[in-house]
Amino acid sequence: MTIILGAMEGEIEEVTGLLAEAEPHTFRRYRMTAGTIFGHPVLVARSGCGKSYAAMVAQHLIDVFEPSRLIFTGLAGSINPQINIGDTIVADDCLQHDLDASAVGFRRGEIPFEDLREIAGDPELLAIAAAYRPPEGMLHRGRILTGDQFLDRSRLAAAPYLRDELDGDAVEMEGASVAAVCHFNDVPFCLVRTISDRADSNARVDFERFLPKASRNAAEFVKHVMSSL
Ligand code: ADE
Repeated sequence: MTIILGAMEGEIEEVTGLLAEAEPHTFRRYRMTAGTIFGHPVLVARSGCGKSYAAMVAQHLIDVFEPSRLIFTGLAGSINPQINIGDTIVADDCLQHDLDASAVGFRRGEIPFEDLREIAGDPELLAIAAAYRPPEGMLHRGRILTGDQFLDRSRLAAAPYLRDELDGDAVEMEGASVAAVCHFNDVPFCLVRTISDRADSNARVDFERFLPKASRNAAEFVKHVMSSL
């Protein structure tokens, strides 16, 4: 089974639409759909927004479905001038930018006492992802930073370390927490995002405008992965 997660319904709608033999499931008040894509078993679910809901849903689904892989998709804000709105970024690795125990000697983003900071995507899934050709925009590989903040101009200006120290290319609110859950459970993980904004003063408007494009791009990406397995 492959699990496909996105934070919001709007980010995964078109992926759910790809499912044959669709069958509803629930986790508390979250509705999700299992089915097949090109004959492969797939579950598509919403994780909710932010690191704690995303981790909670990911752990639950891993316990129940014992997936062979998990793909997280949706929107991200670019903080790299070379990566434009409408482009796609596949995470070579990702980390939690707001996990900061540097006051007691850990590196920013490091999960204390776990010897874990950046979490790499699964090499096999990354190789498949590298061959993806998005319907619009360019494909990039890079580092995605995750935190419980939607970053706009002033919040980005207050966090120069996102580029300078953490070497981030894009920001979002769930990926690295789900990556940590997958790492802990030995589940191969891939994080792919459509760039909706530049984490600037237009970020909110751009984000809302880009939801349908993200959903379409996510569906194309999932078709690409499923046909490559
Ligand atoms: N997801 C999409 N755009 C984002 C931003 N600017 N900050 C955090 N998460 C995002």
